[in-house]
Amino acid sequence: MIRLLIVDDISSTRDNLQKLLSFEDDIEVAGTASDGREGLEAAHRLQPDIVLTDVNMPVMDGIQLTETLASELPTSPVIIMSVQGERDYLRRAMQAGAREFLIKPFSHDELVAAIRRVYQLEQKKGTFLAKTAPAQPDAPAAPRSNAPAEVLLVFSGKGGVGKSLIATNLAVALAEQTGGRVALVDLDLQFGDIGVMLNLDHSRSITELVDGSSGIDDESVGEVVATGPSGVKVLLAPISPELADLVTAEHVRTVIAELRRGYDYVIVDSASHLTEFNLEVIELAQRVLVVTALTIPAIKDAKLTLKVLESLSVDAESIMLVVNRVDGYADFNQESIEQSLRTPVAVSIPHDPRVIGDAITRGLPFVTAHPEAEVSRAIRELVARIVPERAMAAAVPESGDRKRRKGLFGR
Ligand SMILES: Nc1ncnc2c1ncn2[C@@H]1O[C@H](COP(=O)(O)OP(=O)(O)OP(=O)(O)O)[C@@H](O)[C@H]1O
Ligand SMILES: [Mg+2]
Repeated sequence: MIRLLIVDDISSTRDNLQKLLSFEDDIEVAGTASDGREGLEAAHRLQPDIVLTDVNMPVMDGIQLTETLASELPTSPVIIMSVQGERDYLRRAMQAGAREFLIKPFSHDELVAAIRRVYQLEQKKGTFLAKTAPAQPDAPAAPRSNAPAEVLLVFSGKGGVGKSLIATNLAVALAEQTGGRVALVDLDLQFGDIGVMLNLDHSRSITELVDGSSGIDDESVGEVVATGPSGVKVLLAPISPELADLVTAEHVRTVIAELRRGYDYVIVDSASHLTEFNLEVIELAQRVLVVTALTIPAIKDAKLTLKVLESLSVDAESIMLVVNRVDGYADFNQESIEQSLRTPVAVSIPHDPRVIGDAITRGLPFVTAHPEAEVSRAIRELVARIVPERAMAAAVPESGDRKRRKGLFGR
């Protein structure tokens, strides 16, 4: 029996689907829900074999539901129902990890065939794999080149300047704008925040890689990474600070080398002091993003950081200065910073507690939750600076909210 969960905000659509499927003796509708959040709760409760979801829904849309399920409940694959002309949604749904799409209006046969196909594929993957490995979203649009990934370290001498937020949002924006494969590594080993920022299942982390049982190779790395938004693969920091000691600089080197083989970009978030891990990654990185703020202590620390990088013979060309939390009340302006640090500012990110607070509370990157916000535009600009040739920087994605209000389909 294939147990199905139907998620759609239109009750007549739910009823019709249920009626259509009642004739199939191998498919059982285990439950229905009327928005993504209800759907998520129902999925956790019912553990369905397949989740069939609409895209446009209030509270939480089908894309967010797909993304969340990919990381929290990879054993429940998602089929998305959408209307013709929602290509951008389809692309995002695919990156979020949806297995199949049904374009409305679809026939009874198409529906049943899609459900059986997804179910059989899931069975083939084997119970073990299905229960232990996170869902693999479909390959991103752009084919992966054979060149090893570019490693970008997000670093600052000062704590709390926004490294983790910038690393997270940069990773998601890079995946969206370039279609490349992106890995995000949380090397703030004691107090890593990326798991909570992206609301990821923390059952696996770098700890599982270094415990010595299976070695570090593409397979073991593939098994411990969590799937974040837009298919970004996240290697989380240990779940508890005392476990950080298990990780050595040698481990970090091996993990990064492995990730470089399988991805196009490896973004590394770091702790704010000069740990041996940071030194290791500084050496491996093609780019170091130095994050600072417009305050006197932050500028002082940025100056020291740049000095350290210089003394480590890091090429000035590979350093990008990112100024965060820019507002009208700052101690400095951009010009005075550039003069004082003798480094150009690559991008300024505005201070926006409303947008950022909301995204953090929802466990989403702000570039996805609020694509229209200035902070998101700044991150896209940063992507365009990093990969001018590949990033579709001008392509400002239409806000999910705006689209949803059009109340497109099923209506
Ligand atoms: N542009 C911004 N606008 C408003 N608030 C911001 C902005 N950037 C960062 N913040 C706030 O600062 C907090 C710290 O950000 P974040 O955790 O990314 O810093 P960090 O440098 O990684 O810190 P740590 O050194 O502790 O790891 C965020 O939780 C957020 O509340
Ligand atoms: Mg941090």
